Amino acid sequence: MHTITLNAPDDFEGWRAGAKAALLAGLGPEDVLFAVEGQGGGLFADKSPLPPPNPAVKPPTVPKDFIPLANLTVCHSDPERFALLYRLLHRLQGDRTLLKQRADADTHRINILAKEVRRDLHKMKAFVRFRKTGEVAAPDGGVTEQFVSWFEPTHYTVRYGSGFFVRRFASMHWSILTPKGCAHWDGENLTFSEAVPKSEAPADDALEDYWKSYYAAIFNPARLKTQAMQSEMPKKYWHNLPEAALIPDLIEKARERENAMIEADPTTPREGMMRHREVVVEETFPDRDTIETLEDLRASLKGCRACPLWEPATQAVPGKGPAHAPIMFVGEQPGDKEDLAGEPFIGPAGQVLRGVLSEIGHDPDNIYVTNAVKHFKFEPRGKRRLHKNPTVKEIDHCKWWLNREIELVQPRVVVALGGSAVRALTGKSGTIKALRGGAHPLTHLDRALSMVVTNHPSYILRIPETDRAEQARQGLMDDLRFALSL
Ligand code: URA
Repeated sequence: MHTITLNAPDDFEGWRAGAKAALLAGLGPEDVLFAVEGQGGGLFADKSPLPPPNPAVKPPTVPKDFIPLANLTVCHSDPERFALLYRLLHRLQGDRTLLKQRADADTHRINILAKEVRRDLHKMKAFVRFRKTGEVAAPDGGVTEQFVSWFEPTHYTVRYGSGFFVRRFASMHWSILTPKGCAHWDGENLTFSEAVPKSEAPADDALEDYWKSYYAAIFNPARLKTQAMQSEMPKKYWHNLPEAALIPDLIEKARERENAMIEADPTTPREGMMRHREVVVEETFPDRDTIETLEDLRASLKGCRACPLWEPATQAVPGKGPAHAPIMFVGEQPGDKEDLAGEPFIGPAGQVLRGVLSEIGHDPDNIYVTNAVKHFKFEPRGKRRLHKNPTVKEIDHCKWWLNREIELVQPRVVVALGGSAVRALTGKSGTIKALRGGAHPLTHLDRALSMVVTNHPSYILRIPETDRAEQARQGLMDDLRFALSL
């Protein structure tokens, strides 16, 4: 048994170099042991150097997906991770399709580990809270503020995840301290150091109050889903979050506040909404790899600040329906009722849609229903919130979420309900009249998909004459019947 010693528990480069050398020496998985410096080499460790390369062994190659997957997996805290990766690497030399074989035990395991690491990275982005600890010398000779955060990751994710904080807090001097290693940024250089105990973490400071008032202001009772909230913000993280102290009280009052909001229908615009003020827009979307399931998507969408529409809306409204529905309906954007409830198509347009589907004998619950734009855009008018069409720019921006939904659900057919959906699905603006009556192949997503175009159900609701409205309803029925037949 030959031992390869790594410098740190997340030493990917060390693993990579050691694994390559072992492979070239012709060593099999049972001949190699990976140990982390300072963590003991195990009973069977052999400190002698690896044998030289065996000329009969061809230089190793791997499919391109392997390296990023291995890089993530090394961050996991499972002690078997290095051995698993070497076994996979070794097996890949004989079978390059191994990573596509989802039922293979090693492939299955590496995907699980990578997924758990991605979750941990996601939690780090969401729950790191910096506290001001003092001032340090700045490169220009002056002084600058120093911020420190204490965080408890499950895996060795600090090094991998710190790039996000460098981009987000580029001009701050900060440290993220964890029991699994620390990262430090001085405005120019990113460095890493050993794990520290919690006693090194800074105590409360003035920023606590800032976080608390921010959280209380953005907490919306209609968004409260206690179970989802606890799985998204597990209690494990609460003791490091200043705002967590408010949670029990806010939950207690939430039901009362939500009832009051719904009873106040039509909704009263929030005070101050009509005044112009600056809205925080981040313009970025999550790492695609962190959104692996519709649950991930829903959780992440909640925090979307990619355009100013998030601010006056109650909440982002994700799609709803079976996770692998063969057909997906795409509307325009949530309306007033959808905005309050957090579900698509539960208002008047949704009733039309459900009515038409029932009439053609199709269970609406078998369809995945979503929207091109995920936040309700409206204009406050007295006590009402009047629907406002999203702009092309807003549709194009928001389609990141729709595309990811399509990738996850993998429907065979999408039905574009109206022009905004056509724009989101095709990137082009087209007239409904010209596009109705057939199936259009969609090619921009990396899978075959047919699009059927029809009028938005609210179009029917806007037609004043009964006979014309009935004609339009029949048209919608025909189009949906055709789409379902595909
Ligand atoms: N109109 C839409 O396009 N979507 C909804 O969810 C509700 C109304």
